[in-house]
Amino acid sequence: MADPQTPVLVRHEDAETFATNLLIAAGVPPAPAAITASALVEADLRGVESHGINRLPSYLARMRHGVLDPAASPTLVHLTPAVAQINAHNTLGFPAAALAIDTAVSLASTSGIGLVSVTASNHFGMAAWLVRRAATAGFLSLVFTTASPALAPWGGRVPLLGIAPLACGAPGSPHPFILDMAPSVAARGRIHRALRRGEAIPVGWALDKEGRETEDPAAALDGGVMMPVGGPKGVGLAVMMEVLAGVMTGAGFAGGVVGPGDVSRPAGVGHLVVAMRADLFVSAEEFRERMGVLWGEVVGAERREGVDRIWFPGEREQVCEERRREGGIPYVRGEVEVLNEEARRLGVEGLREMVEGV
Ligand SMILES: NC(=O)c1ccc[n+]([C@@H]2O[C@H](COP(=O)([O-])OP(=O)(O)OC[C@H]3O[C@@H](n4cnc5c(N)ncnc54)[C@H](O)[C@@H]3O)[C@@H](O)[C@H]2O)c1
Repeated sequence: MADPQTPVLVRHEDAETFATNLLIAAGVPPAPAAITASALVEADLRGVESHGINRLPSYLARMRHGVLDPAASPTLVHLTPAVAQINAHNTLGFPAAALAIDTAVSLASTSGIGLVSVTASNHFGMAAWLVRRAATAGFLSLVFTTASPALAPWGGRVPLLGIAPLACGAPGSPHPFILDMAPSVAARGRIHRALRRGEAIPVGWALDKEGRETEDPAAALDGGVMMPVGGPKGVGLAVMMEVLAGVMTGAGFAGGVVGPGDVSRPAGVGHLVVAMRADLFVSAEEFRERMGVLWGEVVGAERREGVDRIWFPGEREQVCEERRREGGIPYVRGEVEVLNEEARRLGVEGLREMVEGV
């Protein structure tokens, strides 16, 4: 049997077709299946493998257990000229979040700013795809979500707060500004990835259930907690996400969101997105010029010894994406086997691999 850690290269188009087919076979209509597949593959392209197509088995398991409705359509209600509310009706988080950001952009184009909440939703993967969608349309954005408990309040040792990403984007020159960060030292998906790949995790990422530092991903995931960035300040950001995407939207908060491995009930995730026109206070042209100056100042700053290059937030991921669009996405055999098992179960063709020399 092949070593599960053997590298496997896959073209992004093939990964997207595979993911779309898998979702359609599981009962997701073609349009939301395509949105979801594209966002997952975008994460793999950008090097955020913790939120790529390897997430599909957990979504499919939720559908099989009847706690995620593959075919529901999110519904939207306009509350004010700049504010709208979406009920995702427990369908995939991706189409619900796409509707939210697109609506926020449309509200912002007429009102200057658009604010949209989403309740009864699910995991939407890597937040960057949403702020990028707004930046591509020429808008600044903020994206917040809730997530299942994984972080303790500062000084605590039991998971209570979600490690949900905080994302902010702006169109830029030559690169957009894409900040997408979990308030933990590492996203929990990276611990799952280390477990899948049989790797240790660095000290400082997580504590085990006894509150001790651990390098073992299994111990971290078995009742342990993730460590916040910047101590109590990281916890403060996690509480902010509970306030904005949970308390304010009407979705679950303070432990109210169900984790991906728990298939006993709907996840109850909430999102809050904001879009802003770039030309509110300066002209569009001046905004672009000023972003160019900011980028130049940041990446051109005097470097510390041993540092080859300074990056603008989101730029490393963009370079990774350009490379992987050309050369393929690297997975490992064990990951591909798990995905192909889902394909066999649903009667869908397996993930097509790149053949060396072709
Ligand atoms: N949907 C969910 O519930 C959920 C929960 C947690 C995390 N996530 C996702 O997990 C992913 C990983 O999160 P993370 O916090 O581990 O990301 P990360 O630490 O890899 O990056 C965080 C941010 O810092 C920037 N950055 C990183 N290194 C840099 C450098 N050397 N110079 C300049 N900027 C740099 C990145 O561009 C990014 O914007 C994100 O895409 C996030 O959306 C999703």
